[in-house]
Amino acid sequence: MHSNNLTRRQLLAGASAAGSLLFAPGFSSAALAIPDSPILLEARPGKANLLDTTLSETSIWGFEGVVPGPIIRAKRGSEVWVRLKNSLPQPTTVHWHGIRIDNAMDGVAGLTQDPVPPGETFDYRFKVPDAGTYWYHPHNRSWEQLARGLYGTLVVEEPDTPDFDQDIIAVMDDWRLGEDGAIDEKSMGSIRDRAHAGRLGNILSVNGRPKGKFPVRSGERIRLRMINTCNARILKLRFEDLNPQVIALDGQPVSPYALDHGLVTIAPAQRVDLLIDMTGAPGVTHAITEVSQRRLVTATLEYSRQSTLPARPSQLELPGNGLKQPVIASSRKVDLIMSGGAMGQAEKITFKGKTYDLRQLVREHGQVWAFNGNAGMPKLPLFSAKQGESIAVRMVNETRWPHAMHFHGHHFKEAAQNAPWRDTLLMQADETRTVYLHADNPGKWMIHCHMLEHQAGGMGTWFEVKA
Ligand code: C2O
Ligand code: CU
Repeated sequence: MHSNNLTRRQLLAGASAAGSLLFAPGFSSAALAIPDSPILLEARPGKANLLDTTLSETSIWGFEGVVPGPIIRAKRGSEVWVRLKNSLPQPTTVHWHGIRIDNAMDGVAGLTQDPVPPGETFDYRFKVPDAGTYWYHPHNRSWEQLARGLYGTLVVEEPDTPDFDQDIIAVMDDWRLGEDGAIDEKSMGSIRDRAHAGRLGNILSVNGRPKGKFPVRSGERIRLRMINTCNARILKLRFEDLNPQVIALDGQPVSPYALDHGLVTIAPAQRVDLLIDMTGAPGVTHAITEVSQRRLVTATLEYSRQSTLPARPSQLELPGNGLKQPVIASSRKVDLIMSGGAMGQAEKITFKGKTYDLRQLVREHGQVWAFNGNAGMPKLPLFSAKQGESIAVRMVNETRWPHAMHFHGHHFKEAAQNAPWRDTLLMQADETRTVYLHADNPGKWMIHCHMLEHQAGGMGTWFEVKA
């Protein structure tokens, strides 16, 4: 099997770089290497070509001045060392989304570190325990800094490289641009967006371009890593004439299953890895269409005219990362009641120790949402767990809006037999769902809605794991 796969790779040598635009410096390819110098990551203003024209470039903020920022790759279990330099006009941090990280490196301004002031640097050094598709972004004024383009991909590679012909990354974002092609700054953080669905864009990008074009060859088996970096849009992607299999969610492998009607839903911050056997004939093109609002062709898979490679009969399942299962029967129960927002019930909400009715709170503090009746980060944690304890968080969405609930430092799962590990769960309006986590990572960890205007509007809390 191994030599077989080498042959395929040799065959394809030189034609397989589609998704891998940039490899991080500072890493040797040896497994578990300790880097001897940091990867430099400068957050600074830059330009992007977000429109279907070469005439207008949009001013953005990006890591290394580009969007998405550099792809960082590391082997599972190895160490990543990144030196953030802040060349923005405001403080920032880097959060490594979905990584079960050392708490001090989690990058949450105000909880795990002070934000890094303009002109200063901060070193992030951490182990990556799980193979899979992850990403990084600031955790200070996230609603503004992500809307301006600050994010990038972190790929943690499996110990043995799985047998794909191509590894393609599709970082998908929506942007709200004005007529002039510039980012609409005036509406940033608006109360309207906060109280409704968040900041939805009018332009979609794939890897910082208006459309993703991915060259493939008939017969190839590709891995497509999709990342939703939108502030608030729930992406719905339709694959035409293909039969993709889901092989990982939020970085963690699942036993492969086919997409329902070729459709995949990806909430903000979520990742979906697909395995796609390219069954089309040489010369054809497959479209990937985003259908959440209008139909937009976001990407195309374009077959070369080269002859077909033999199809692969074999299944492929990614190796698991060996996460500890929560003990469902004996888990401690915690409630997280989500309330507020437009069309929500009138109610009393506490903010910084004072109680308001919702309309007054909106007017005076721009806060619109609450967890357990409290808007914004509370003084006390939602719960405090002993290391190794299993916690059941029952989330009740009493609002009229969907939310993308994200837990830091841990993956969690629902009780069903084959429920996947996730770090971000899409909750529909009026839905109640209980997630279980094995609280084994000491420190202070955030829970928040990853619709970033909702987070800014009050949807944030934290929990603590005591060593
Ligand atoms: Cu992707 Cu709290 O963040
Ligand atoms: Cu939300």
